[in-house]
Amino acid sequence: MSMHPIIVNLTSGTHKICTCGESMTAPICDDSEGPPCRKAPSITLEAAKTVPICACGRTQTAPICDGSHGYEKGR
Ligand code: FES
Repeated sequence: MSMHPIIVNLTSGTHKICTCGESMTAPICDDSEGPPCRKAPSITLEAAKTVPICACGRTQTAPICDGSHGYEKGR
């Protein structure tokens, strides 16, 4: 099964990224585990940007996809 990043258009500012899978607004954290969620990594953007969020868990630059998902073919 191949995994790819989730492409999201984010506004400027700080966004928390869900890593627990419970968010109803995934991949953005909605504090489902009880506000405020402390496990969610955050990213801060100075301007609106389209961002690839890692969905495979292999990225070294979490929560942003670094292309590591492409290596699963050889497993
Ligand atoms: S989705 Fe690309 S590294 Fe995880």
